[in-house]
Amino acid sequence: MGNHTWDNKEIFDFIDQEPRMVRPANYPPGTPGLGYTVIKANGKELAVVNLMGRTFLPPLDDPFRVADEIIGQLSKKHKCILVDFHAEATSEKIAMGWYLDGRASIVVGTHTHVQSNDDTILPQGTAYLTDAGMVGSREGILGMERTAVLRKFTTQLPVRFQVCEGKWHFHAVIVDIDESTGKAQKIQKIRLLEDEWIMD
Ligand SMILES: [Fe+2]
Repeated sequence: MGNHTWDNKEIFDFIDQEPRMVRPANYPPGTPGLGYTVIKANGKELAVVNLMGRTFLPPLDDPFRVADEIIGQLSKKHKCILVDFHAEATSEKIAMGWYLDGRASIVVGTHTHVQSNDDTILPQGTAYLTDAGMVGSREGILGMERTAVLRKFTTQLPVRFQVCEGKWHFHAVIVDIDESTGKAQKIQKIRLLEDEWIMD
């Protein structure tokens, strides 16, 4: 999840019963939901941590310190750890990548909706990508219907955004992890466009 976690009030009806959902872990103690979870599939386990940046976003607790606490706990039992860092500033995301190099298997950014072109494996074995991108329409503006977004930019009046229809694009990232060490071996970003299938 991220900064839009609470936009629909219905989430409060089920977030505490939905272990597959993680909201930023650096919300204050007592916030509904979980900041991390462990996914089990095909006999394998992946711990997933969600953190939110503080640059151009609400001032939550320090995501670096919260990462220390959670990864310190998770690493006692888990080698494979993914950190989804939901943040606006490339600098804050790159900083988190370096900060967790060797402690997380993957640090991948979200929130900008624009896939970055800096996929790499850092020296201590953390796969890193500043932003995974988005899944949705590519005919809008960050997935939103563009007429309303343009009206907002050109008038500064409040507008209601609608999810955009139209041709899709699908962005994702795949990482191979050595299960015995938790180190990343390969990172591959994916960028597929309707009518124009490209796999980088
Ligand atoms: Fe976001």
